[in-house]
Amino acid sequence: MRSAVERLRLSNFRAYDTTELACCGRTVFLFGANGAGKTNLLEALSLLSPGRGLRGAALEQIGRRLSGEAAGGGAWAVSVDLRVGSDRYTVGVGTEVPGASRRAVRIDGEPVAPSRLADFARPLWLTPAQDRLFLESPAERRRFLDRLVLAAEPTHGAVAMAYERALRERVRLLAEERADLSWLSALEARMAESGAALAVARARTVTSLVQEIDARNGGAFPHARVDLTGEWERQALGGRSESEIRSDLAVALSDSRARDKAAGRTLSGPHRGDLAVVHLERDRPAQDCSTGEQKALILNLILAQAARLSRDHSAPTPILLLDEVAAHLDPVRRAALFDEIADLGLQAFLTGTDDSLFDGLRGRALGVRVDASRLFLVDD
Ligand SMILES: Nc1ncnc2c1ncn2[C@@H]1O[C@H](COP(=O)(O)OP(=O)(O)O)[C@@H](O)[C@H]1O
Ligand SMILES: [Mg+2]
Repeated sequence: MRSAVERLRLSNFRAYDTTELACCGRTVFLFGANGAGKTNLLEALSLLSPGRGLRGAALEQIGRRLSGEAAGGGAWAVSVDLRVGSDRYTVGVGTEVPGASRRAVRIDGEPVAPSRLADFARPLWLTPAQDRLFLESPAERRRFLDRLVLAAEPTHGAVAMAYERALRERVRLLAEERADLSWLSALEARMAESGAALAVARARTVTSLVQEIDARNGGAFPHARVDLTGEWERQALGGRSESEIRSDLAVALSDSRARDKAAGRTLSGPHRGDLAVVHLERDRPAQDCSTGEQKALILNLILAQAARLSRDHSAPTPILLLDEVAAHLDPVRRAALFDEIADLGLQAFLTGTDDSLFDGLRGRALGVRVDASRLFLVDD
């Protein structure tokens, strides 16, 4: 089902007071000076998924701060009219009272759990913060990978949270003088269950991504070879079933109690997994490629996932949030990106400082000039 934003309203969101954008399901390019409010708008849309959005921000950072204010404690809201297939919904996300510690989600005015957002929108993003993805710690790449998985499998987020919680509790328990052994076993069983599910879901996504990328032969983007290097993901890629991995992981955890206690952390598990990407034509690992090549590789992964999900008629299609991506692509790749978005029939929101970057989108997208957190529509 195609999912697209028809109208976006912001209130007290970052530097925005109250703003409305009627984009009618079209692709949008936002241009304007640094600090104008482009990324803030993309961030608002990224909050239409469980988690902390494209900046990984805490709720209290998001509320509008007036100059001189240290924290924006006020209530903020993002409200989006979405068309999903032939239906329309209004999805609201925000803190309903100042200083709220949880974000509230409403569908057509009714409060729902954040996990329900996946039934309506599945934003996928690429931001300048990800430019160093292949140079950063494995944790960043896991987060990136898990986002791709989450777009395909909405339960992935809750499984990851359950795993992390049990992981932390087990480490805490191991540090105790006389750990309660039955409690330890219970935590390890929980870790084994959620950990096996995590590893298998990651393997499933990478397997389909590889197929998709091979079928596209990279397109205008560098052909990437994607692999998972974590021990447990390797088992899943090698064809071991989820229940086999679950029992192996339970045994491995139980066997490594003394080692993990001494280390003060858990030495094996899907929380140590990593993503390896190779630029096939260059025959070089992504981290040794130029910044532009790395960006194009990441974009290829995102587009492959978007292409795959765009064919899934039972789930909302991804909405692409591409922050400052156009400026980093050469003209040929930029044109290919615009064509790809149009061919897939997806809605994308793109940003850049200069509107000439988006010349290739004229007639196919809505242009919006952003100036000091005010939006001005540009005629086609
Ligand atoms: N909570 C907040 N309250 C008020 N202003 C904020 C808040 N968070 C960020 N800003 C401001 O929003 C402005 C626009 O940011 P951004 O959207 O990142 O600009 P850009 O157009 O360069 O992407 C920045 O000047 C920043 O200081
Ligand atoms: Mg920005």
